[in-house]
Amino acid sequence: MKDIRILAIESSCDETAAAVVVNGREALSNVINSQIAVHTLYGGVVPEIASRAHIQNINPVIRAALDEAHMTLEDIDAVAVTYGPGLVGSLLVGVAEAKALAWATGKPLIGVHHIEGHIAANYIASKDLKPPFAALVVSGGHTHLVMVQDYDRFEIIGRTRDDAAGEAFDKVARAVGLGYPGGPKIDKEAKNGNPHAIEFPIAHIDGAPYDFSFSGIKSAVLNYLNEAKMKGETVNRADLVASFQQAVVTTLVSHSMQLVCERHLDKLVIAGGVSANSALRKAMKEACDEQGVAFYCPPLILCTDNAAMIGSAAYYEYCKGHFAGWDLNAVPNLKLGERA
Ligand code: KG4
Ligand code: ZN
Repeated sequence: MKDIRILAIESSCDETAAAVVVNGREALSNVINSQIAVHTLYGGVVPEIASRAHIQNINPVIRAALDEAHMTLEDIDAVAVTYGPGLVGSLLVGVAEAKALAWATGKPLIGVHHIEGHIAANYIASKDLKPPFAALVVSGGHTHLVMVQDYDRFEIIGRTRDDAAGEAFDKVARAVGLGYPGGPKIDKEAKNGNPHAIEFPIAHIDGAPYDFSFSGIKSAVLNYLNEAKMKGETVNRADLVASFQQAVVTTLVSHSMQLVCERHLDKLVIAGGVSANSALRKAMKEACDEQGVAFYCPPLILCTDNAAMIGSAAYYEYCKGHFAGWDLNAVPNLKLGERA
């Protein structure tokens, strides 16, 4: 069978990315232009600035992705793009670019769901991985526990009721003065702290054992800081963030393992920016080993936003003949499993 080479574009938040992916499993290039430096000045992503930066970066990033793969647009079989969920202005830059390229070259256009992309990062990392499996998707905007029944069939088992896991990391990092982006900074600082120094509450939601809630832990950290300030006590920041991280990781692991055990599954996948967290990777691996469950997590570069994961998810859409029309639009609140 002929190789299918997909040029993929990702611009849903603050990374402008392009990649060339073969048969959904091999990334010939994976170029990422991160805007972290510019957003750090403001303590978080400023949507208007993100859109403008995407416009400036997108053509050079695509050119670099093609060059690195030693290809021209002629060699590509389809153009894929993230069309939701995400920041509308950011998504629109990628969608408009992908449509223009597909139209000009006469190649098919494929719209990809950002979260399906995060899950698909594991197909590049682990060539033997096939559905069905359980997936914990933890990013800056999403916390979903998902049954991946097939490459294009998803059953949402649990979700966050308030903050996403990554959002909680980012807010706590800001509160303790670590700044943006919070996740990697807390991960690093926590290595110097005692994760059992402070017992933070782990929320359980009555009647929804697989749902998550992270606003309680975030508030508990803020209360702890305020109380210490009122009493004039100094806070051991490493202990504080290590204990916060421990509480979040414990919840993520226990929910995921409950699903795996209840459904007698043999594979668990983690995905999304927070799956780069070293404590989560370690704890989840240990829990899976204990239960005899195969554990999959992408390398760090495929955990946070990238276009290789979009090219992988797009391949399975291509195989099913799911192509987008010229009316493809950005859908900021696109639901998992929903198609435009
Ligand atoms: O998947 P992603 O790059 O973008 C979204 O789709 O949201 O995820 C970004 C999120 C941010 O909240 C960031 O703080 C978090 O992932 N993150 C981490 C780590 N690296 C990134 N959280 C915890 N530990 C990390 N090492
Ligand atoms: Zn993401």
